[in-house]
Amino acid sequence: MKPPKVVFVCQECGAQAPKWMGRCADCGAWNSLVEERAASPDLAAGAAAGAGTNRYAQFATSGTSKLYAEVETSNAARLSSGIGEFDRVLGGGIVPGSLILLGGEPGIGKSTLLLQAAAHFARDIGPVLYASGEESEHQIKSRGDRLGVGPETPLYLLAETCIERILEEIARLKPALVIIDSVQTVFSIKFQSAPGSIGQVREAATQFLFAAKGQNIPTILVGHVTKDGALAGPKVLEHVVDTVLSFEGERHHSHRVVRAVKNRFGAVSELGVFEMTGTGLRAVANPSMLFLSERAAGTPGSAVLCCVEGSRPILVEVQALVSTSTYGNARRMAIGVDQSRLSLLLAVLEKRAGLSLAGDDVYVNIAGGMTVEEPAADLSVVAAVASSVRNRALAHKTAVFGEVGLSGEIRGIPQAPLRIREAVQMGFNRIVMPFANVEPDSAAQNDGCELVGVRTVGEALDNLIA
Ligand code: TYD
Ligand code: MG
Repeated sequence: MKPPKVVFVCQECGAQAPKWMGRCADCGAWNSLVEERAASPDLAAGAAAGAGTNRYAQFATSGTSKLYAEVETSNAARLSSGIGEFDRVLGGGIVPGSLILLGGEPGIGKSTLLLQAAAHFARDIGPVLYASGEESEHQIKSRGDRLGVGPETPLYLLAETCIERILEEIARLKPALVIIDSVQTVFSIKFQSAPGSIGQVREAATQFLFAAKGQNIPTILVGHVTKDGALAGPKVLEHVVDTVLSFEGERHHSHRVVRAVKNRFGAVSELGVFEMTGTGLRAVANPSMLFLSERAAGTPGSAVLCCVEGSRPILVEVQALVSTSTYGNARRMAIGVDQSRLSLLLAVLEKRAGLSLAGDDVYVNIAGGMTVEEPAADLSVVAAVASSVRNRALAHKTAVFGEVGLSGEIRGIPQAPLRIREAVQMGFNRIVMPFANVEPDSAAQNDGCELVGVRTVGEALDNLIA
């Protein structure tokens, strides 16, 4: 028998090399090549080509193409996970036969959320197989007891890390939903490399993809993220799966956010908000209320932003603290907003609004651990920083949104009516926003909410910090 073929695979980008190198020739990552061997050369060749010869047979009904009109429109009903916020992130529920990846840091609550979803799903739709490579059946059971999973629930637990054996169990049980916790702990007997290595993760993702599509069983994979926030087992996973959900939040805060990063069946950046309680995760129906709950009245350096995540408007508090720098280098720290965006906005404030920040440390934070990436947050950051510099608080019932350009102009942003409606519902009576977004007959004005359209940063600050 020929010795097994050895390849060195970059754990960052998946590139292969015949010998070890200190630096990946493809992506340039240092010390990322790891030896991987296939148990048998012919299986390795099949896997490396990404197309096991007969595995695609499960997918296709015939080898010939079909005319567009001949293909049946599948409006297969989505399956509800029984957790409204989770369904929302998925774009309205689980699509039959889809492969979903739920990524997040250890201890954030992935297993908890999926066990809750599994229990609901099992009760309402059909049997669920929960395969765990991290916990024993007893551990999962005791967690389930805590979450109030009843003994009559058709939920099958399997503590197993071998992919082939999990697939056998799927074939035997024919469950309505499969959960694999986690993709980094399972391994295929076809490879000798350790679980969690890129070859194993890729193999797991493809095998479960074929199982999901071939047998029309929706499958959820749990994935761990590395310390810099990327999903371990990098891009290969994201390409294979239909939907990538990211579970975020700070372990020290009770609330958690699930966000769609990629979704073949729905809008991305759709957001679900949960609260971790003693008995599992609880959906938060009104996130604005949660994020503003601890806001103190009359403090300088605080502004309320109406942001939109997916199709959902949320009010968050943007906080800034400007203090004299004690060291030579002024520090600029941003938590929840982009660091380079903050630098840009501070430069605009100095140049266009005449604020001097040269000798000051500037800290910006979104209260409650939320992250906002859209440019509509610009004006709220500017307002919070200016408010801290001048030590004057913004009016308590005033909200802001708008993009700030380099010449100090305030640019219009999408979905303004949605933001206005949310602010009005939360009892705000004044919104400082881009002039371009103000519609003369806006319904908000009738509700006693004043819309102040502004064109420049200077004008905005005049209206916010008189
Ligand atoms: P877990 O779902 O195990 O996280 P992950 O699978 O992402 O690693 O969640 C672990 C944390 O959640 C743990 O620190 C305890 C907390 N927790 C609660 O606060 N309440 C609960 O009901 C449960 C089950 C867990
Ligand atoms: Mg877990």
